[in-house]
Amino acid sequence: MTFDRSVKIAPSILSADFANFGAECEAIEAQGADWVHVDVMDGHFVPNITFGPATCAAIRPHIRGVMDVHLMIAPVDPYITAFADAGADVITAHVEASTHIHRTLQAIRATGAKAGVALNPGTPAEAVSELLDLTDLVCVMTVNPGFGGQKFIASQIDKVRKLRAMIGDRPIHIEIDGGVDPQTAPLVTRAGADVLVAGSAVFRGGSVSDPTPYGENIRAIREAASGVWT
Ligand code: DX5
Ligand code: ZN
Repeated sequence: MTFDRSVKIAPSILSADFANFGAECEAIEAQGADWVHVDVMDGHFVPNITFGPATCAAIRPHIRGVMDVHLMIAPVDPYITAFADAGADVITAHVEASTHIHRTLQAIRATGAKAGVALNPGTPAEAVSELLDLTDLVCVMTVNPGFGGQKFIASQIDKVRKLRAMIGDRPIHIEIDGGVDPQTAPLVTRAGADVLVAGSAVFRGGSVSDPTPYGENIRAIREAASGVWT
């Protein structure tokens, strides 16, 4: 993975057809997705359950680009190797889910994967201030994690701005997860975000047999996010 701060759209397969992940991943990449965002939930850290490393390994051959695995699980550490072996390029753990998040990030990097750290809406930007040298991506949750289709929490925009200033020249992505659509995308890219996760706003209106809406939705978010502003 090379680093740059261009806007990247990362569709979340939480909004895909769960009986058809392989074809869905191929469809969104063919329609212009930059990364594929994979939401792992355990019914303990978050009030919903999705899937684990075996599913990630099964969909890996259907993703040509970056497989971005967002772990909403506690504990995290016992499962890091399994997700790395499943082929994750980025593994993101929540600062709220790990007693020793510093050690967790070291363990992720030790596998060769990029290390991401996610912040719930109630967690301040300062929670990552001692972690930046161990981090490749900070994920700012703009909804409370657990479900797709929730409303964007606008108070997080200021957190993005703070994080962008804290990061400075370090090669660290700022990812936004939750409620991203063409209306909210420019608010966060303007504040310094570069990776935009979007579930419902990408998958709405399309399907594997009719994937054209995926492309239209991705382009609409990208164009809004990359708009000219002063
Ligand atoms: C929420 C997940 C998100 C979710 C985003 O816990 O981490 O990735 O799928 O879905 P939308 O874009 O519908 O808010
Ligand atoms: Zn996510």
